[in-house]
Amino acid sequence: MRRSVRVGGLAVLVAVLVAACRPVPPDATLRSLADLRDGRLIGTSVEPAQFGRSADATLIASQFSSVTPENVMKWEVVHPGPSTWNHAPGDAVVAFAEEHGQRVRGHTLVWHRQNPAWLTGGSYSRDELIAVLEDHISTLVGRYEGRVAQWDVVNEAIADDGTLRDTIWLRGIGPDYIRLAFEFAHAADPDAELFINDYLIERGGAKAATLLWIVASLRAQGVPIHGVGYQVHALVPSLMPTPEQFADEMRRFASRGMLVEITEMDVALQLPSDPTTGPQQQADAYGSAVMACLAVRECTGVTTWNYSDAESWIPGEFPGFGEASIYDAELRPKPAYERIRQLLWWNLRAR
Ligand code: G3I
Repeated sequence: MRRSVRVGGLAVLVAVLVAACRPVPPDATLRSLADLRDGRLIGTSVEPAQFGRSADATLIASQFSSVTPENVMKWEVVHPGPSTWNHAPGDAVVAFAEEHGQRVRGHTLVWHRQNPAWLTGGSYSRDELIAVLEDHISTLVGRYEGRVAQWDVVNEAIADDGTLRDTIWLRGIGPDYIRLAFEFAHAADPDAELFINDYLIERGGAKAATLLWIVASLRAQGVPIHGVGYQVHALVPSLMPTPEQFADEMRRFASRGMLVEITEMDVALQLPSDPTTGPQQQADAYGSAVMACLAVRECTGVTTWNYSDAESWIPGEFPGFGEASIYDAELRPKPAYERIRQLLWWNLRAR
C-alpha cells in the first residue's frame, strides 16, 4: 500500500512541476494572460481611425481588455464650443469597447492642455468657470454613465517642482477645482472609478509627496476620489524605479484605500536606437512596471500609451526619440511584448 501511495504522490508532484514549467502558450494574448492574474486589465490608448484598419482593430480587440481614448474625449475635440459637442468619436471608442468586451478609461476631464480657445480665451468669474466645468463634466460623464468604468478626472495637476500646476483652473477657481471636478464626476456617474493622473510620480519625490497630500486631504473630506494613475512615460536608458521601489510607491496610496493603475506607459528610445541594447532595456522598463503592478493587489491595470510605433505621440513631441511601443510600426511584437507575456504567465511580481 505504502509503495503505491509513494508512487502516486511522486506522479502528482511530477505532473505539477511539468505544468509549472509549461512555456507560455504561443497563442496566449496579453488580455488572456492578464486576466489570469486577479483579473488584471491590460490596455492601450486608441483613436477611432484605428478601428477601420483590420490589422489594428484585430490587434486592439484581441490583445487588450481596456481602451483609453487618446484624444477624442479631450475638451478641444469633444466640446469645441460653449454649446457645441462632438460626441461621435468618443461614441465610436465606447462602441468598439462594448463590441469586444473591453473596459473604457475616460480621458481626461480636467487638464491644462488641449483646451479650446473659447475656454482658455474666455474671461470668466470664479462662479462662471465652475459652472462651465460642471456643465462639461456632467454632460460628458453623464453621457457614458455605466459605460465608461473609470475616468482620469484631473490630469497633471502638479508641476514638476511639486507645487500645484499654474493652470486656468487653478487661477480661475483656486485649488478647490480638484475637489469640484471629482464631485461633479461622481454626481454624473456614482459607479465610475475616479482617478487623479500624473507623470513622474513612480519614483517618489516632490510630485508624489504633493499628490499624497492632495489624495489624503480629499479623502479626509469624503471626496469621491478612488484611484491614482501613473502615466509612466519612460526613456531608455531607463530612469525607471526597480519593481520593488515602484510597488512601494503604489502601496503608499493603496494603503489609503486607493486603487492604482499604470495608465499611459511607453518607453522611448533615443534614435537611431542600438538594436543590441535598446529593445532589451525597453523590455526591462516595461517589465519593471508590470512586476510592480502584479505585486500590489490594488493595481488593477496596466495601459500602454499607443500600441505601435506607427501611432506613437513621441516623435512629434520629442524629435530624436521614438520606437516607444510594444509593437513596431509594422505591428510586429517586440521583446517588451514578449517580456510582458512571460511576466504575466509566470506571475513574476516584485516582492
Ligand atoms: O486634431 C489636430 C488636427 O486637426 C491638426 O491637423 C493636427 C496638426 O496640427 O493636430 C491635431 O491635433 C493634435 C492632437 O494630438 C490630435 O492628434 C495635436 O497637434 C497634438 O499636439 C496632440 O498630441 C497629443 C498630446 O497628448 C497633446 O498634449 C497626443 O496625441 C497624445 O498622445 C498626448 O497624450 C497625453 C495624454 O493625454 C496625457 N498624458 C501625456 C500624454 C502625452 O502628452
